[in-house]
Amino acid sequence: MQINRVKVIETVVCMMLDSLPDERRTAGYIHIFRAEQAAALIALRRGLDTEIAAVGALLHDYDKYLTGNAEEHAKKSADASLPILAKTELFTPCEIGVIATAIAAHSDKENVGAPYDEVLKDADVLSHHFLKSADKVKEEYPRAYQRYLKLKEEFSI
Ligand SMILES: [Fe+2]
Repeated sequence: MQINRVKVIETVVCMMLDSLPDERRTAGYIHIFRAEQAAALIALRRGLDTEIAAVGALLHDYDKYLTGNAEEHAKKSADASLPILAKTELFTPCEIGVIATAIAAHSDKENVGAPYDEVLKDADVLSHHFLKSADKVKEEYPRAYQRYLKLKEEFSI
């Protein structure tokens, strides 16, 4: 039987979240699993690997939720993802590189990067803002506004 790589990483993330105080745990579950779903959907639309996209989303804020500190969390979460992914022995060095690079770049919403970087940035934006109106996104998070509009256009929604 083939091991489900996404499920393995979901379990790792759940174990981390379950160790957190109530408020942070709830926020983490909501955001991370919304982002995972969005990343898989975006990857599918763009002809990319849904597993790689989903795993990147699952780990993209790992350090932020674990520590409760958002400062430089993209780089710190990328660093945290390396031993997690390597320990599973389920990902190639190339896949680990792609995932960690996307995680490290995900806060840079104003610039365009490699395909998996873009999937993760867009999934993060959808996870945070999908249920808000365009005006609300513009007001609350102007750096994500153009991405939000482009995503709605890409998905014709
Ligand atoms: Fe995020």
